[in-house]
Amino acid sequence: MATIAVSRPAPHVCLIRFDRPRARNALSRELLVETAAELDRAAADPEVRCVVLTGDDAAFSAGADIKEMPDGGIPMWGQADRLRAWKTIERFPKPLLAAVDGYALGGGCELTTLCDIVIAGDGARFGFPEVRIAAFPGDGGTQRLPRVVGKTRAMWMMMTGEMIDAQTACAWGLAIAVVPAAETVARTLDLAGRIAAMSPIAVAMIKEEVLMTYQKPLDESLSLERKLLLWQTEDHDEGIAAFVEKRPPVFKGR
Ligand code: CAA
Repeated sequence: MATIAVSRPAPHVCLIRFDRPRARNALSRELLVETAAELDRAAADPEVRCVVLTGDDAAFSAGADIKEMPDGGIPMWGQADRLRAWKTIERFPKPLLAAVDGYALGGGCELTTLCDIVIAGDGARFGFPEVRIAAFPGDGGTQRLPRVVGKTRAMWMMMTGEMIDAQTACAWGLAIAVVPAAETVARTLDLAGRIAAMSPIAVAMIKEEVLMTYQKPLDESLSLERKLLLWQTEDHDEGIAAFVEKRPPVFKGR
């Protein structure tokens, strides 16, 4: 049975909804593999310019599926297809947004730190409770969370396992906005639509270049940024022409 539901609610926008409500959308191996496969399809499809991840009212995701059994002696978090799926999500080249209602815990919260922009419903709760089961956030959380919220807040969240509310998550930079829970998905889709109206080449370059901040020394990434600036695209010509002619641009991704 599918663990995600995929739709195209607006032009150029793909919505992936986690669909394991009875397990608070825990990130089972199957859910991660299905999500990664959908992202591979979205990456290859020029019609898709932006992807939104969401869950349901109760949970974006409660994290790794604690009930999944070790396979051949390998703990669930170390299984190869699970690790491959995380890599695919991490390398997704188009904008990846999250509409978060309810709990975003453990791996679910790690997933939000992988997304480019997060919108939180006013009842959302973010946290890293792994320490309470004598584990730690091993799907990128120990590295990404401090880069988003700073060392002290990351230590506090991970060492206590306590949750923060949507307002605090927004103040700490985990989310860009807090909206009424009934509007979370619609507001995120609206944002996705506005990003999808931009040149997809320019948006992909922005994502690649911003992520270089975490991957390369500053002098190297500045020199790469300078080289990428030399790219010429039809979209860029269109953007300039539209500005001069005082009309909205139409970007074709070329
Ligand atoms: N894995 C598997 N099942 C989960 C789950 C998870 N992470 N989270 C919730 N569920 C299941 C519950 O076991 C329960 O199933 P049953 O009805 O069969 O008993 C069902 O979802 C509903 O859960 P609750 O009754 O507990 O619902 P609640 O609304 O009262 O509480 C919750 C929700 C606060 C999310 C609570 O379920 C909870 O604390 N879950 C565990 C969260 C957690 O520890 N996440 C970290 C996972 S480890 C991780 O992510 C590791 C990593 O990075 C490598």
